[in-house]
Amino acid sequence: AMGKQDTVREELGILHGIPLYKSFIEGWPQVKAFQARPDDLLISTYPKSGTTWLSEILDMIYHDGDVEKCRRDAIYNRVPFLELKAPGVPSGVELLEKTPSPRLVKTHLPVQLLPTSFWDKDCKIIYVARNPKDVVISYYYFYQMAKMHPDPGTLGEFLESFMAGKVAYGSWYEHVQGWWKKKQEKKFLYLFYEDMKKEPRQELKKILQFLGKEVAEETVARILHHTSFQEMKKNPAANYETMPTDLMDHNLSPFLRKGISGDWKNHFTVAQNERFDQHYKQHMAGSDLHFQMEV
Ligand code: A3P
Repeated sequence: AMGKQDTVREELGILHGIPLYKSFIEGWPQVKAFQARPDDLLISTYPKSGTTWLSEILDMIYHDGDVEKCRRDAIYNRVPFLELKAPGVPSGVELLEKTPSPRLVKTHLPVQLLPTSFWDKDCKIIYVARNPKDVVISYYYFYQMAKMHPDPGTLGEFLESFMAGKVAYGSWYEHVQGWWKKKQEKKFLYLFYEDMKKEPRQELKKILQFLGKEVAEETVARILHHTSFQEMKKNPAANYETMPTDLMDHNLSPFLRKGISGDWKNHFTVAQNERFDQHYKQHMAGSDLHFQMEV
């Protein structure tokens, strides 16, 4: 299906060893020099791990569960994407400079590339990790619908690229383990997508406690409802449907696609699963970071 609409597809460049969109690399000097504010809250994830979900939860918390206020703009404007740089739209840094405090900031950067200002200003950071089998399937569909990616090829080919770290943002293994090393830091919370699926209320309470925020039980219920997959899927302010079709084609695959744990089972062959397990074991050996591959 290579047509006119695929003209934006482009091979990735490399930034400090990490494969990344070439336009983002062009904007890197501004990102590196980014001035965080002490009350910024950073949402950090490897792509397809629940970034949008956590972003909506946090915006709801920041607005005391006011659903209407959280419809004021698309999620990518309410929670600017730090390293975003694309022709014809304001960059993440430009958008953030115009955003009043307290800001929510989204990034997919591996820990070693985070602008130092976030550490200097001692900002709070929440990381979400998701099991790699579901990440790679979600990423495969995202590569198809989001046209800034190179052609992903077959699923078998994409699995090899993912395992080799040759996808945007590089190795999932290095990303989740790199950020895991920060887990002892006081202003850092490491969450798992699978826990959020299994125990949404408990994970929301963890977030509230981390933020030092107390909210009424009624507000908790409203946040949980508004940030459920079903509600977010039909919410134009959360589901990315307002992005231009030549950048994201929801007819190929919707941004909010399935929202479950274990969908990889519908996609991996037995051989692919064995190979993936083998590779996973090697790359996570000796780590105390563990993932639930289904819930
Ligand atoms: P699937 O492709 O498996 O459906 P990100 O926001 O980091 O790009 O992650 C996107 C993934 O999170 C998609 O996974 C999407 O459906 C899922 N997601 C988004 N909102 C969700 C929600 N409220 N509950 C569960 N999953 C959600």
